[in-house]
Amino acid sequence: MGEMYHEIARLLTAAHKCSALTGAGISAESGIATFRSKGGLWDTYDPAVYASIDVFNQDPSKYWTIRGDFIRNYNDYTPNSAHRALAELERMGILRCVITQNIDGLHRKAGSGNVIEIHGSLREIYCLKCHRRYIAPDVPEGTPPYCSCGGILKPDTVLFGEQLPEDALIKAREESMSCSAMLVIGTSAAVQPAASLPYLAQQHGAKIIEINIEPAFPGADYCITEKAGIALPEIVQQIRSMG
Ligand code: OAD
Repeated sequence: MGEMYHEIARLLTAAHKCSALTGAGISAESGIATFRSKGGLWDTYDPAVYASIDVFNQDPSKYWTIRGDFIRNYNDYTPNSAHRALAELERMGILRCVITQNIDGLHRKAGSGNVIEIHGSLREIYCLKCHRRYIAPDVPEGTPPYCSCGGILKPDTVLFGEQLPEDALIKAREESMSCSAMLVIGTSAAVQPAASLPYLAQQHGAKIIEINIEPAFPGADYCITEKAGIALPEIVQQIRSMG
């Protein structure tokens, strides 16, 4: 394993443009539930009911009932060593951006500057009627919560059946097509279009380095079967020791 870390460190240092794609696994060590690992959120709740825009429009309380099992308050969670290592790789001039499926805001809190949130963020909640925005932690309580105008509130995140934010998706695709190495961390690669980004990167010549306790990218050039909170600081350490 030591030799693999060394090779990855060499590869990242040599690559001019490196990007990262992250999923729920990178936030697992911050105490946030993943979706599809054993005991994950979708093990208990059917996403077609609890995370679908059609159901939300008919009965928003479904989504809001499980919200507390996932992330109760946006500001309750802190970044872990994996988020911090990615921020450090950006400061070192190695990582150009983090494309994340996560809505928890932990990459920004860890200090990453260029974060592309392709599934939106829980930071903001907006009214479906008057479009007023509420920013965490100043968000109304309730299942569902209501705006002062009486409208129903929805988080600024993507539910199944909704389009991804267009700007974010365009940027994510551009970064994927132009990077020469991509770190793919803690995602089961089950949801499109996020799951296609590493393939897009690979088709354009990038090397794929997967970090996952249950690998999901059979085509990865390197695969570290380890917790992100252990593997990423080790990569940073290897790069530092190379001087
Ligand atoms: P998943 O829950 O599907 O996958 C999490 C992955 O992280 C699994 O492959 C785990 O093996 C891995 N993992 C768990 N703990 C880890 C750790 N400490 N270190 C490294 N890897 C670890 O989450 P996502 O792939 O992010 O979308 O799910 C994708 C999308 O499905 C989410 O953004 C969300 C969900 O439905 C929407 O709601 C639109």
